[in-house]
Amino acid sequence: MPDRPSRCRQARFRRAGYRTDRIDEVPESSPARPVADCCRSGPVEGREAGQGRIARHFDRQVVQSHTDPFDLPEPVPISARLLDLLGDVADIRPSVLDLGCGDGAGAIRLLQTGAGSVNGLDLSPASIEIAQRRAVSAGLGTERVRFAVADVASVSLQPHDWVLLDRVICCYGDADRLVGNALTAALRRFVFSVPASRGWRGVLNAIGWGIENLWKAIVNPDRCRGYVHDVKSIEQHLEAAGFRKLRTGHRGLWYAAVFERGTSLTEDPAATDD
Ligand SMILES: C[S@@+](CC[C@H](N)C(=O)[O-])C[C@H]1O[C@@H](n2cnc3c(N)ncnc32)[C@H](O)[C@@H]1O
Repeated sequence: MPDRPSRCRQARFRRAGYRTDRIDEVPESSPARPVADCCRSGPVEGREAGQGRIARHFDRQVVQSHTDPFDLPEPVPISARLLDLLGDVADIRPSVLDLGCGDGAGAIRLLQTGAGSVNGLDLSPASIEIAQRRAVSAGLGTERVRFAVADVASVSLQPHDWVLLDRVICCYGDADRLVGNALTAALRRFVFSVPASRGWRGVLNAIGWGIENLWKAIVNPDRCRGYVHDVKSIEQHLEAAGFRKLRTGHRGLWYAAVFERGTSLTEDPAATDD
């Protein structure tokens, strides 16, 4: 007969809004530190007071969208597009640093398609817990994947072949600081997705995100706002650091780009739908 789940574990499940009747089927072992474990809570590495709002916002969001621990959603369309742009992952087998990894959907997909290893960092403990569960259910061990809670704008980052910022720069007001810190870890590639800021997509995003931010400020000031940063200025930052645009793509109003150290777009024009 299986042991009863610990009271701590049951409480954690209930607090997160999950049913506890199938709790025994969710593996207790986790490939990384269980940062959201109520028995082991501690300070978030590198987190500043202002980032608490982002963490709370995504904790709430992730708990609402993962009401069943067995339901691990696929990457959203722009993330899927970004992964398409990384179709050479199996040839390169890079180490990947997924900054703002969320629930780990992209990280695990990269591992399943050939990445050598992935380290995922996020401000939201609830997201990291789901990412860890996702890694366990994919049968991936700590030698290939680790997830932890950290503020990626300020924590000191280890070098990796590829650095990813998928739908993360738009959460953070100071894009230069976030990109600057991420660049310290990028050996070969810098990959990101953001709401488009140019052309008709840029106009629609400016209006849509403006209205959404106003609505959040009125209805719930604790919700974190979103930012439509100037894509050109992000790309100039990358170019100044020695990276060149390799591939780009769009999904809806979002833009995704792959930059590589010392490579130019003309090497792979077919991969671009700008
Ligand atoms: C829209 S979600 C995207 C998650 C994931 N990259 C994906 O595409 O599915 C943005 C994530 O970035 C995280 N985030 C935002 N600012 C961060 C920061 N300064 N440090 C770490 N994570 C951050 C949030 O907690 C959230 O999980």
